[in-house]
Amino acid sequence: MVDINENFLSLGKSYLFQRIAEKKTAFLQKHPEADLLDLGIGDTTLAPPKVAIEALIRAGNQMLDSPIGYGPSTGYLFLKEAICNEYYKPLVSSSLSKTTSYAPSSDEVFISDGAKSDTALLENLFAKESKICVCDPVYPVYVDSNALAGRLDPGYENAVYAQCTEENGFTPKPPSSAKEPVADIIYLCSPHNPTGIAFSYEALKKWVDYALEHKSVIIFDAAYSAFVTDPSIPKSIYEVENAEKVAIECGSFSKGASFTGLRCAWCVIPQSVIRSGKSLNALWNQYKSITSNGVSYPIQKAAEALFTPEGKCAIEENAKSYMASAQKLHSGLKNLNWKVFEKPSAPYVWCKSPVPLSSWELFDLLLEKAHIIATPGSGFGKSGEGYIRFSAFAKPSAIDKALVRLSQLYQEA
Ligand code: MLT
Repeated sequence: MVDINENFLSLGKSYLFQRIAEKKTAFLQKHPEADLLDLGIGDTTLAPPKVAIEALIRAGNQMLDSPIGYGPSTGYLFLKEAICNEYYKPLVSSSLSKTTSYAPSSDEVFISDGAKSDTALLENLFAKESKICVCDPVYPVYVDSNALAGRLDPGYENAVYAQCTEENGFTPKPPSSAKEPVADIIYLCSPHNPTGIAFSYEALKKWVDYALEHKSVIIFDAAYSAFVTDPSIPKSIYEVENAEKVAIECGSFSKGASFTGLRCAWCVIPQSVIRSGKSLNALWNQYKSITSNGVSYPIQKAAEALFTPEGKCAIEENAKSYMASAQKLHSGLKNLNWKVFEKPSAPYVWCKSPVPLSSWELFDLLLEKAHIIATPGSGFGKSGEGYIRFSAFAKPSAIDKALVRLSQLYQEA
C-alpha cells in the first residue's frame, strides 16, 4: 500500500481562503436571502481591459483557421518581449537607483498561470535544508508550499520571521546576522499582502544587501506593483542595484489587469543568479519543461495587448478606481475609530478592531451581524492576530454598504 506524503500532516487544517470560502458557503446555506458583502479574498471586480478581451477573441478565431498546438513551456517570445520592452526597460530607465542598469532579457522571463503558482513552486529550486524567511503576517502560500516540501515543522516554528509591526511601520528589516539563523530563501511581497504597505527603496535595499552578503535568494512577489504611484517606492526589486544577482521576481496580470479569472503571470530569473555553480534560470527552464506545457496562446495574446497604450491606460484607470475604494474604506474605518494604518500602496486595508477580539472572532462577528466577509489577520501568521484585512477590490457599492453596516454595528455595540 502506498503511503501519503507525510508533509501534508504539517499543514494547517485547510488553506486560509478555502476555510473562508467554506464559512461563506455555510452562511449562505443558512441565510440564502442575505446580501453578503465579500471584502475577503482580493478578487478583482472590474472587467479586464477591452483591448485584451478583443485580442483573446481574435486569437481564438485564428485557431479556427490555423490550429495552434503546444506552445513553449516557458511562454511565447511575443509576450516575454512585451514584458521586457514595455515594462522593465521603462522602469529601469526611470529607476530610483541612479546606478542600476539591469532590465531582463526575454530568456530570463518565464510565463505562467499565476504568481500564486510561481511563488508556491519556486522552492523546488532549493535544497531541502534551506532556511526560509518570511514576513509575518504573510501570504500563506509561501509557508504552506515550504511545509509541503518538508522544509517546515508542524507549527512552522523553524522559519525565520521578519515581524511586520505597527512600530516598524509594517516594513521589517532583514534578520539580525548576530542573533538569527541565516535566511537562505527570502520571500518578500511589496506592496505587501496583507498589509498593503510597500517597501521604500532604502528598506528594500537592506534586504538586497543582506542577500548579497549571505548568498541568499529573494523571491520578490510584485503582484501588486500596478497600484504603486509613489515615486519613492520601487515597483520592481531590480530598481535596486545588484538585485539581479540575488532576486527572482514574480509579476502578475491578475490584480492590475483583472486577470484573476484569465490566469497569466510571469517570473524573472536573471542569468546572474548562480548557486552551487548552477544557473537557477537553467534549472527553472528544465523544471518548466518537465511540469508544464505553458499558458494557452489566446491568454498570452490577451496579456500582450495589455502593453499597448490602450491596455496600459485601462490598467491605470482600474488601479485608480481600486485605490479610490481603498481610500474611502480607510477613512470610513478611521472615522469609526478602527485603528487603520497610513499609506497602503495596494487595495487592502489592514486594521484593528475597536473592540478587543481575536481575528477569527471578529471575522465571525462581521459575518453574523453585518453580513460582511473580511480576512482574519491571524490567517496570515501569528503577528496578524487581532487584525483583519478588508479588500477594496470589491465593488464600490459593496464598500459603501459595508461602511454603513459597520457604522450601525458600532452604534449597537
Ligand atoms: C488574497 O486575497 O490574499 C489574494 O487575492 C489571494 C491570491 O492572490 O491567491
